[in-house]
Formats: sequence, C-alpha cells, structure tokens
Amino acid sequence: MDKQPPRIVSSLAELRSARLLFDGKVGLVPTMGYLHEGHVSLARRAREECDHVIVSIFVNPTQFGPSEDLSTYPRDLDRDLLLLEPAGVELVWTPTPEVMYPPGFATWVEVEGLTKPLEGASRPGHFRGVTTVVSKLFNAVQPHKAYFGQKDAQQAAVIRKMTRDLDFPIEIVVCPTVRETDGLAMSSRNSYLSPDERTAAAVLFRSLSAARSAYERGERNAQSLRRIMAEVILSEPLAKMQYVSVADYDTLEELETVAGKALLSMAVFMGRTRLIDNVVLG
Ligand code: PAF
Repeated sequence: MDKQPPRIVSSLAELRSARLLFDGKVGLVPTMGYLHEGHVSLARRAREECDHVIVSIFVNPTQFGPSEDLSTYPRDLDRDLLLLEPAGVELVWTPTPEVMYPPGFATWVEVEGLTKPLEGASRPGHFRGVTTVVSKLFNAVQPHKAYFGQKDAQQAAVIRKMTRDLDFPIEIVVCPTVRETDGLAMSSRNSYLSPDERTAAAVLFRSLSAARSAYERGERNAQSLRRIMAEVILSEPLAKMQYVSVADYDTLEELETVAGKALLSMAVFMGRTRLIDNVVLG
C-alpha cells in the first residue's frame, strides 16, 4: 500500500496532468474537508477497490442556503492530509471557488423529483449545488468509481440518479455510516456541538433504533414508526425536530405501510446545529 504523503493540487490543469499519470482504476472520494473516520473509511474502501485514489476537498458554496453555515464551515487542510496519508490516498484536489465557479458561471445540473422531499424541502437549492459540483468533479477527475456515505442517504440517491441520467461511466459506491460509540453519526458539523449538545445528540440514533426495533417486532404502520421516532426526539429537551420520515427507499415518497425497503430518516436541530441521520429497513 502506498503510504507517501498525498500530492496536493489546486488548479484544473494540475489535476488533469496528475490524473493522466494514473493507469488502471481510479476512485474519487468527494468531500468538503474537516475529515473524520467516515471519510477515511471511504478512502480506505476506494484504496481496496481501485489502483489510485483521489480525494477532493472543496467547501461548495452553491449547496449552502443564505442562512446556512458556509462562512463558519470548519476547515483544516493539514489535519485532513494527516488523516488521508495512512489511507493510501495519492492525490488531493483542493480547487478554489474561482476554479469551480469562474466569473460568468451559469450552468446548473438539477435532478427533479427525488430532490423535492426531505432535505430538498428543508434546504431549497441544496441538491442543485450538490449535483452541479459533483458533475464538475466527475468531469474533471474522470473516476471509474466514486464513494459517498450512507449518512447522506438522499444525496447518494440523487447522485446515483444523476449518474444514470447523464450517462457518467462511473460506479457509485455507497458506504455504511460510521458512528461514535454512543451511536451519533460522524459528521464535520458535530464539531459545532457544545458538550451538552454533543451528549444530547445521541438521541437521533436512539430514535432511529427505537423505530427499527418496533419494525423488527412486526410494526409496519409507517405513521406509528414516525410517532415512535418523534417521541424519542421530543423526550430530549435540547433537540428540536425538523422532520422524521418513513419513505420508500428508491422513490423517497412517504409510506403508509412498510412493505419493501424503507428509509427512516430525520433532521434535528441541536441548538443551532442541524444534524441528519437515517437507517434502512428491509
Ligand atoms: O457530502 C459532501 O461532503 C458534499 O455534499 C459533496 C458530495 C462533497 C459535494 O460538495
């Protein structure tokens, strides 16, 4: 396994010349930096499955709403590089906003339908920013495989759809959510939590686990599962629920009855920090 420090490039020209040196299968791990074990697990999986691994680090302004945390989003490139080196990542692409969105930029990629519910309803314009930047990353890097986390389940579904619809010859690999010992899904935004909020944040996974246990005991009524999730969230005074959902895994439409594969998901504010999580049933 290659354990050299990764090479860092910023411009599109440097990225393209470095990419040309790679023979065989190339894996891309798109990130917004401030990496954690979840990202590293994606890089390790890419390393296992591909000959070369490229990680992109870009805090994409177009996927943040006007009142969201773009200006405060955590950044620490030195720390990110230290985490990526043992995973065998060879190349890190850190484009600037000017590289990704040069003056006069006016072209957007938008997936209809799947982007409307859940995160799309709470964060208008978010997925248009994600699919636009991921298309640009795909075009620039031309990977054979691209790796995303299951924690952003709707993002993974939207990117899969975009990849199919636009004929990108790229396999989308979705990897399991990596959790802290109390079940909290790893996220760069966890760094915003105060100690009390951090303790309280375990309520998301407790809530999902309670609904999953009810499902395992035979509960198939989606509204009952939503009620179970909501009750657990409401029992935590620091948590403010934005939504809980029991949706069809493929269409993301809300279900009345769970018959096939379903996605239990939620968004919860812990103070000013918005957290999301999900589990898959069936
Ligand atoms: O999941 C993320 O970190 C981002 O949404 C992504 C896929 C890197 C696009 O900016």
